[in-house]
Amino acid sequence: MFLRTLTATTLLVTSLSAAAPLTAQNHKTDPIITRNVEFATQQVGLMVDTMNTFRQIPSPRTTDEQGRLVFTTLDDWTSGFFPGTLWYLYELSGDSVWLQPAIHYTEGMERIKYYRGNHDIGFMIYCSFGNGLRLTQKADYKDVIVTAARTLCERYRPGAGVIQSWPRQRGWDCPVIIDNMMNLELLFEATRMSGDSSFWNIAVSHADQTLKHHYRPDMSCYHVVDYDSETGAVRSRVTAQGYADSSAWARGQAWGLYGYTMCYRYTRDPRYLKQAEAIARFIFTHPNLPKDLIPYWDYDVPNIEQEPRDASAAAITASALYELSTYVNAKEAKQYKKLADRIIKSLSSPNYRATLSTNGYFILMHSTGNKPGPNEVDVPLVYADYYFLEALKRKRDLEQK
Ligand code: GLY
Repeated sequence: MFLRTLTATTLLVTSLSAAAPLTAQNHKTDPIITRNVEFATQQVGLMVDTMNTFRQIPSPRTTDEQGRLVFTTLDDWTSGFFPGTLWYLYELSGDSVWLQPAIHYTEGMERIKYYRGNHDIGFMIYCSFGNGLRLTQKADYKDVIVTAARTLCERYRPGAGVIQSWPRQRGWDCPVIIDNMMNLELLFEATRMSGDSSFWNIAVSHADQTLKHHYRPDMSCYHVVDYDSETGAVRSRVTAQGYADSSAWARGQAWGLYGYTMCYRYTRDPRYLKQAEAIARFIFTHPNLPKDLIPYWDYDVPNIEQEPRDASAAAITASALYELSTYVNAKEAKQYKKLADRIIKSLSSPNYRATLSTNGYFILMHSTGNKPGPNEVDVPLVYADYYFLEALKRKRDLEQK
């Protein structure tokens, strides 16, 4: 299988064999990682092939009812995940063939550093340029990241101490969704790169307010909290993508787990670690979590066994757990890693991992974007693949320590 030589619009020049060489530490790599990386390089290689004659930078997101690849614009919240996927394939395969497409698809979205439509610039820029910077040390990527952080901070509402997620709509004043925790990585990194602590302070304020107002006593979270932007008073707590205002939307729980684990990475604030552990406890003691650990799209939906799963929530959770396992004692670390390994095993099985050349060339099947929409129900989603690869990378790092 070959990635075709690309045209002037793209930069890839070499071929990719099915048995792309893994990194120097190959001999220590768990075969589940090796097999997944081999599959992912072939499958995503086919996806790159289908896109290499496009004039504009395409942003693959999911598939349609006929199973065909669906693209979105770079202004979509998911646009950073495909470049990020290419960076993880470059890293996991150790094959330089992935470098040029990763650079091409990353640099093609530079204008997004000025994106002001909502809070999603953190996902968009950090998954693309953040990974690119980590793997190449390209100094100009730092400017993109710091500029994007500045753009995101325009959404900070000092009266409420939060970054506003969405525009004022549906009667909301300052809606904040749990997903917003994921944008804080961009801010912490921007402070590291620029020395400007205002990004960091905003991230901490947002994480603190979310901890206080988004979580229920059982440590599940609401999807949307609407604040009074002047006083910070909570106006309402509702859902947009979950089953009910009071329910636990599966991906929301995963964003929170990942978000507080990541906040602990930067701040070492024990409250964030405690929060991440409490969220993990909620997820893994939930009676509606299936044995294969791939959640239904919402933990509280009636007749749950007839409902679709959300593989994306599972992939995000696995990635978060590998990181969380590095911050706790040996006994807990083993437990978190074991849970993450079980998720990876499930996702790598034919129940969730596609076969070559199917599934719109995405790696994983059975994610649910927005069931109430309804849209993107029981489909592949680019972010499920991204976090799956990130989880594999984190697993490999842990096991090679
Ligand atoms: N951030 C949007 C979602 O999780 O669907």
